[in-house]
Amino acid sequence: MKGFQENFMWGGAVAANQCEGAWNEGGKGLSVPDVDWHNPHLNRAGKRDEDSEMTSARLKELLAIDDDRQFPKRKGIDFYHTYKEDLKLMHELGLKCFRTSINWARIFPNGDDEKPNEEGLKFYDDLIDTIVGYGMEPIITLFHYELPLNLVTKYGGWKNRKLIDFFVKYCKVCFERYHNKVKYWILINQINLIYVESFNSLGILSDSVDNLEEAKYQAIHHQFVACSLATKAAREIDPSMKMGVMISDHNCYAETAKPEDVFYTYQKNQMSQMFYTDVRIRGAYPGYALRFFEDHDFHIEMREEDLEAIKKYTADFMAFSYYYTRLNSYEKNNKGLNDISKNPLLKASIWGWSIDPLGLRNSLNLYYDRYGVPMMIAENGLGALDELTADNKVHDDYRIDYLREHIKAMKEAIKDGVDLFAYCPWGPFDIVSCTTNEMSKRYGFVYVDIQDDGTGTGNRYKKDSFAWYQKVIATNGEEL
Ligand code: BG6
Repeated sequence: MKGFQENFMWGGAVAANQCEGAWNEGGKGLSVPDVDWHNPHLNRAGKRDEDSEMTSARLKELLAIDDDRQFPKRKGIDFYHTYKEDLKLMHELGLKCFRTSINWARIFPNGDDEKPNEEGLKFYDDLIDTIVGYGMEPIITLFHYELPLNLVTKYGGWKNRKLIDFFVKYCKVCFERYHNKVKYWILINQINLIYVESFNSLGILSDSVDNLEEAKYQAIHHQFVACSLATKAAREIDPSMKMGVMISDHNCYAETAKPEDVFYTYQKNQMSQMFYTDVRIRGAYPGYALRFFEDHDFHIEMREEDLEAIKKYTADFMAFSYYYTRLNSYEKNNKGLNDISKNPLLKASIWGWSIDPLGLRNSLNLYYDRYGVPMMIAENGLGALDELTADNKVHDDYRIDYLREHIKAMKEAIKDGVDLFAYCPWGPFDIVSCTTNEMSKRYGFVYVDIQDDGTGTGNRYKKDSFAWYQKVIATNGEEL
């Protein structure tokens, strides 16, 4: 049985808002991640389960804080200015592909501007040329939480139908400009994260609606239509471009073999994961989702033309991020889709994310059996507190162990018959954490000397995992 295909895309993935910085340069508008505040007294292990909502009052308070250091994503790792050196290191690492996002607010600073911001486009011209120049295939995400803040304050975020047009217009600008250079596009990062990344994903102020959960599904409907219409535009501009749907995979296991645990866990997985890929790949709302809306008395406005677009312009490939699995008990976890337990049988990172390589093989099989479309792992990795030694080394064998086991699991899934064509470990150089807005949660093969309070030299140092991943790529996954 063979392993990784000959032209397997070994890569790395980042997001504009977590690395670029330069939040107020180049004509960029204010975007949602620019108000992601770093809590110095953060509860690391509990953060992902905490409230990820935003109220109008809290937003006002955050906008009044006149201290950029409290908003680490505003500075990122200064990739906006250092991308040439950083990408050179990625080339040295041997990456075959590099995933990053275009920051929507650099192209349309207010989201509803008539014309795109040429300076923003110019930046991405150079960035994409540099990626391509180093022989890496660019994978571009068009929305990795970089929603222009004006679309929140003026329009109420994605629950407003107008966002469909704004997004499609922005996508068209990018497709027209980059279709000769970019083949793989992920339209929306982790489209299914409407509970744990609620405000980041949807831009809905929780006090602006009567029924927040219903508003979220209305917003998701708008995202589905926007993705379908963007796919239509892409096919018209250049049919060789490939459009991906991406979810965050955090599959739940049933706590026991009790039929109730098994069935209701399956139902939770349907509604929190497969619903999104079913719509985008199969091209229709599944019956279980319509029933979920009915049972919850949610009224989602869907026009006939929406459903036609959803049916006609489906995704070409499926991407997912994979970090951890979860546990579900019918009796204990009955307070909604996001009510889950931690698996006591698995070790976890400091942030409480369970470590489960076999779960990756399980998910790859699950989705490939269901959809039969090419698959990409868009993110995977271990966030850890790395220590830079006095001689500027980082001995991160724990990261090597984590990645090795996940790569082995991918290899087994390929032998099971899964068509997996790309693997992009998260944050190949350290960047600001998405959920906790800190530098201390590091994923990289390259250490970036910036601390949570923004201090540090900004120097880059190769960690032990750098040489290891370099060899993995050079041997196409044979030497792990
Ligand atoms: C994914 C996001 O959910 O998880 C990334 O797409 C994020 O943006 C990654 O960085 C890891 O999360 P964190 O909080 O450890 O950075």
